[in-house]
Amino acid sequence: MALERIAAIPALRERIRDARHQGLAVGCVPTMGALHSGHTALLDRARSECDVLVATLFVNPLQFDRKDDLRTYPRDMETDLRECARHGVDILFAPTAEDMYPREPVTTVEIEGLASGLCGASRPGHFRGVATVVLKLLNIVQPDFACFGEKDYQQLAIVRRLVEDTDLPVRIVGVETVREPDGLALSSRNALLSPAERAAAPAIYKALRSARRAIGAGQADAASILAKARDALRREPLIRLDYLEIVDPESLAPVCRITGPVRIAAAAFLGATRLIDNVSADPPEGR
Ligand code: PAJ
Repeated sequence: MALERIAAIPALRERIRDARHQGLAVGCVPTMGALHSGHTALLDRARSECDVLVATLFVNPLQFDRKDDLRTYPRDMETDLRECARHGVDILFAPTAEDMYPREPVTTVEIEGLASGLCGASRPGHFRGVATVVLKLLNIVQPDFACFGEKDYQQLAIVRRLVEDTDLPVRIVGVETVREPDGLALSSRNALLSPAERAAAPAIYKALRSARRAIGAGQADAASILAKARDALRREPLIRLDYLEIVDPESLAPVCRITGPVRIAAAAFLGATRLIDNVSADPPEGR
């Protein structure tokens, strides 16, 4: 099937309705474009499980807490169309801001608890914007399942809870983080790094990995593990740490004593660019 690009919501709905009448399974991958191998891993995963693959491309103004971040967010429609075609996307839903928000919405999705820590603490309103647009996109596309990356772990946890709390008939599939050979998690924002910042950036993953190693070796005191990992990042002159935390993988609440699986998550600024990353960690068997 050739890639079809649709911007208008009614046209998309009609196309999906036809697919459903034919009994076809619909998969969806929401994105903000500037597609890289992290995104295409989601496309490949979705492609393998559905008949009709819908990618969405919308740089959602509602989730940007900084105007300059929205303005400088990478956009590259030509590459995106090529990547979508290469990875078997059937429909690229790429609405304009007017299509998505013909009026300033008065109905938004507020997530309690899950959205208050980690990125939520330093990006006020961000997850309200994410949850609102994800709910809209899932209502518009009405897929059988949708794929989200573990790279944005808090987002994935919030989307899972949003779907559960609102009984959306969609399965959420989490996909492992895709990394550069030096460990840096792929992100559209990596394109904004200077060469020196790019060279420093893998230190974030390195710090997360050393914290994971400590947990795997049996250290259970989160505070001392975190102190070491934070110190390592503070020694990098180009990196300004926003947060580095050890949290419960579901509630995202900080963990003090590690007795079960945890998530270690970090965010850091390199110049004006904010990068995030996270890894899972497990204490040794039998603890
Ligand atoms: P965006 O940053 O474009 O990411 C789209 C999807 O790709 C998200 O589910 C994200 O977690 C995933 N992704 C990004 N980098 C990845 C990597 N290195 N490995 C694996 N998956 C990766 O996240 C958003 O857009 C938006 O918030 C959105 C959900 C589309 C709502 O606007």
